Amino acid sequence: MISQALREAREFEEESEKRIRETERPSFHLTARTGWMNDPNGFSCYKGQYHLFYQYNPYDTCWGSMHWGHAVSRDMLHWEYLPAALAPDELYDKDGCFSGSAIELPDGRHLLMYTGVVREKQENGGICEVQTQCLAMGNGTDYEKYENNPVLDERDIPEGSSRFDFRDPKVWRKKDGTYRALIGSRPADGSGQVLLYASEDGLCWQYRKVFAANNDRFGKMWECPDFFVLDGKGVLIVSPQDMLPRELEYHNGNGTVCLIGEYDEETDTFTEQYDQAVDYGIDFYAPQTILTPDGRRVLIGWMQNWETCAVRTPEDKWFGQMSLPRELSIRDGRLYQNPIRELEERRRDRVEYRGVLVRDAISLEGIRGRRADIELAVCSADEQKLYRKFAVRFAQNARYQTSVSFEPLEGILKIDRMFSGSRKAVVHQRRSRINSKDGHLKLRMILDRFSVEVFINDGEQVMSATIQTVPEADGISFFADGEVKMDIVKFALE
Ligand code: FRU
Repeated sequence: MISQALREAREFEEESEKRIRETERPSFHLTARTGWMNDPNGFSCYKGQYHLFYQYNPYDTCWGSMHWGHAVSRDMLHWEYLPAALAPDELYDKDGCFSGSAIELPDGRHLLMYTGVVREKQENGGICEVQTQCLAMGNGTDYEKYENNPVLDERDIPEGSSRFDFRDPKVWRKKDGTYRALIGSRPADGSGQVLLYASEDGLCWQYRKVFAANNDRFGKMWECPDFFVLDGKGVLIVSPQDMLPRELEYHNGNGTVCLIGEYDEETDTFTEQYDQAVDYGIDFYAPQTILTPDGRRVLIGWMQNWETCAVRTPEDKWFGQMSLPRELSIRDGRLYQNPIRELEERRRDRVEYRGVLVRDAISLEGIRGRRADIELAVCSADEQKLYRKFAVRFAQNARYQTSVSFEPLEGILKIDRMFSGSRKAVVHQRRSRINSKDGHLKLRMILDRFSVEVFINDGEQVMSATIQTVPEADGISFFADGEVKMDIVKFALE
């Protein structure tokens, strides 16, 4: 049975998406079907297709009544919208169906686990959100909420932990057929922790233990945990709120942290060894991963950040997009990320230059466009003389430009969208310290109408940013202070 709220949302989105022309969206990044999108949810492979759900307010381009939007794809790049999957239509989730995840049950049903939210008036007149964990089962299009919802509530959290910050379950199935879920939580010290739950059948859940504790190191509340084993390491990804900066590794506000360590599968014990940011750019948050049928660990994040949402304008027909799916690997205790290989099938019109001398500003015949895959390798033209700065400018015309620039002496790569057409005082620049010797730098830049994702040194770091630049600004140019030798391969992307 489909509730009235869900039926209305489905009718509304179907009508409303007609107002959005194809060229008004990115071409291979998923956007809200209409209205607002935040976190990826329920990223899973089910009956031969990739499913990606998302935090969704169909009715406005700002955060509001949280539904789950839904799309499917065979390559994670061409997405087809399906009807909204969940609406906040039950007593236990009437104020929102918050983030969660999905897996397939042995009987073939698709299981969604999400956070149900109910607002509660406090004695001081303020409002707090009570959060519980809920289930819905379905066939890949229609989902029915479980009769025993919520399956986890305040009775299932350790003493002192907040019932207002208990959200974003990430479920997986272990080799022995039992299930585990990690859930973000806030302990008495006010910072974050990730709690572990276990289930025999995916429906009935028990609290096990604190899986990882923040102890006030990385921000406060930890949102949207994700955990997997990759290349022999345990990898825990969380999105902390209220972070303090740490040099250029972590920036202020909402961030993403990847903790890499040892995992003992038998006892579900995770021992941290290394930490790093997942994305060093401006717009990235709340990523979720899947294991593809051919064994790749792929991550998709919300290519936006709570701190940068103020760029919305009343004219926007959609707001919020997903990042490119990224293939992950672990090397020497670091997370590496590269665009999924399926992207290469969308490459057209190869243009290549080798050994171009860049001093001052140049542009190159055949190198322009707003949907592009660009591979760059630069070094000093004269080995004895380090250049001072190298920059790529794109989405450029006489009025606008966004740039990625590198100063080899400092080893700092900077992304700057100050002149991208933004009319709001949000973050426009971000810097990252990168590994570079003698001015050598390797970049892969993916442009898709309203964004850039920069993969640095074969995926050792990534910087993502959205831009709102008019489509006519499609120039790409290069700049050097000093003398740079550059190899470049550029493809148009469909
Ligand atoms: C993260 C988040 C989640 C929550 C959702 C609500 O961006 O705050 O913790 O489930 O967004 O939309």
